[in-house]
Amino acid sequence: MHFSFMNKLGASFLITLWLITGANMMGDLLVHVEAAETPALKIAAKGGTEKPKDETGGESALVLLASASAEAGVRTFKKCKSCHSTEKGGKNKVGPNLWDVVGRPKASTPGFKYSGALSGLGGVWTYEDLDAFLTKPKSFAKGNKMTFAGLKKAADRAAVIAHLRSLSDQPKPLP
Ligand code: HEC
Repeated sequence: MHFSFMNKLGASFLITLWLITGANMMGDLLVHVEAAETPALKIAAKGGTEKPKDETGGESALVLLASASAEAGVRTFKKCKSCHSTEKGGKNKVGPNLWDVVGRPKASTPGFKYSGALSGLGGVWTYEDLDAFLTKPKSFAKGNKMTFAGLKKAADRAAVIAHLRSLSDQPKPLP
């Protein structure tokens, strides 16, 4: 077979076109990969601008406890008041009386019917456990009957725990 110059030119033109199209498709593929990555980058950027520690309650209230004011805790405790009395010998409401709860064995207020989830915990209410419980009651003791979402802000928990600590004839030493 004999190819004329024009034939060869045409063929090389087609091949070039082919290569360009191919390169374009490759480019498209690459662009697609990049596009798929964009949302992930956005999430990372968004997370960076927020204060994830506060939002998730990942921060410990214990470091704030020494400087927390029991007074501010009284205000925060308004969220708890409908269910908990705090005076010595006070009667149980929806939840148990909380007099002297720091350092006291869990689920031990006389006359209160605790859920198995709470009475099965064992041990005493340490500052750590109170912090974890009040961050998200539902996850600390699965199936317990304290229907309270939790205090997301470490400062609020520190204040409430400082208030709980003050409800005692002999407040326990700070951690
Ligand atoms: C809607 C009512 C309700 C609210 C609001 C509530 N609690 Fe409770 N709380 C309960 C109940 C009910 C229990 C017992 C849970 C069980 O037995 O499963 C409980 C248990 C507890 C315990 C364990 C006591 C023990 O004797 O072991 C502590 C501590 C506690 N609550 C603190 C708080 C604090 C602090 C707040 C506010 C930030 C609060 N609760 C808000 C109902 C409530």
